Amino acid sequence: MTRPLILLTGATGYIGSHTWLALLASGFDVVGVDNFSNSSRETLNRLHRLSGQTPDFVEADVCSAAAMDAVIRGRRVAAAVHFAAFKAVGESASQPLAYYANNVGGLLTLCQAMQANDCKTLVFSSSATVYGNPQQLPIREDAPLSTTNPYGASKLISENMLRDVEQADAAWAIALLRYFNPVGAHESGLIGEDPRGTPNNLMPYITQVAVGQRARLQVFGNDYDTPDGTGVRDYIHVLDLADGHVQALRYLLGQRRGITANLGTGVGYSVLEMVRAFEQASGHPVPFEIVARRPGDIGACYADPSRAREMLGWTAQRGLAAMCADSWRWQSQNPHGMAP
Ligand code: UD1
Repeated sequence: MTRPLILLTGATGYIGSHTWLALLASGFDVVGVDNFSNSSRETLNRLHRLSGQTPDFVEADVCSAAAMDAVIRGRRVAAAVHFAAFKAVGESASQPLAYYANNVGGLLTLCQAMQANDCKTLVFSSSATVYGNPQQLPIREDAPLSTTNPYGASKLISENMLRDVEQADAAWAIALLRYFNPVGAHESGLIGEDPRGTPNNLMPYITQVAVGQRARLQVFGNDYDTPDGTGVRDYIHVLDLADGHVQALRYLLGQRRGITANLGTGVGYSVLEMVRAFEQASGHPVPFEIVARRPGDIGACYADPSRAREMLGWTAQRGLAAMCADSWRWQSQNPHGMAP
């Protein structure tokens, strides 16, 4: 049987690289695209070691129509998984045009190249950020959508655009996957989250404190309406997230129908619970101080993951201890991230 070829954009990034391996292990071939704007070439060497095969990779920008057309035209691409996007909320507020250009413009360019080459199956990386400040927990996919920053707006605009594309042409089958908070790393410790500069997200900040690169974690507020007052999130192991993409592709290619689904565990943990779980898993202390709330943060956010279970046959398998142990293995084996 031939292995369907999947185009991954943002393929050397955190979620892209883990999904690449999951697809290869699940009977798909992969062609990866990235411009290394927030990832390292070294990822390709690591993927080679882990998969035992030379990665089929094209260095290109998703905003380049000619490059996207060339990648798809030259191959029999069965579907695309579009990870390539900027994701820093604070930066999006100071550089909104860059976010709309890359996140919305890149998606538009990709979809036009796909359409021109009659490739109409797409998995899109969306985010729980499209739920804004949720009124009800756990969050179902039919909850009201809203955004509070240009990053979130770029995801919601992208979702709306893709819904229009599907409406206009039933040949398209599109999955909108709303990720909660991805953490963890491949069990090998060879690939993981590799942020440039000061991490914006909790887990990479914790691991950098534990490895001794930063003095202490700042906990953004302990006066939320949550059991210990600190923010509660639905952390999901990146390997479970990668499996969610495999299942979404199987669904799209089999059913020829779109789906919007949360990818989360359904369980929320507070910042302090994360710190304690990480200390246990790593055996390293994580000093912290309580500081003011981060502007734009919400108190609690966790998924109702039942739609993904019912329609994709997917549930997260890995618990908090594995998330912390795997994040730590990656960070301790690569104290400065991917070597250049
Ligand atoms: C953030 C973004 C979200 C984006 C997601 C993925 C904001 C407001 N939201 O989600 O739109 O989709 O990242 O990149 O930026 N925390 C600390 N100290 C830290 C870092 C975080 O206490 O140094 C706390 C936060 O207040 C929050 C929790 O840890 O309660 C998780 O934060 P983070 O990892 O940034 O994720 P989100 O805010 O959920």
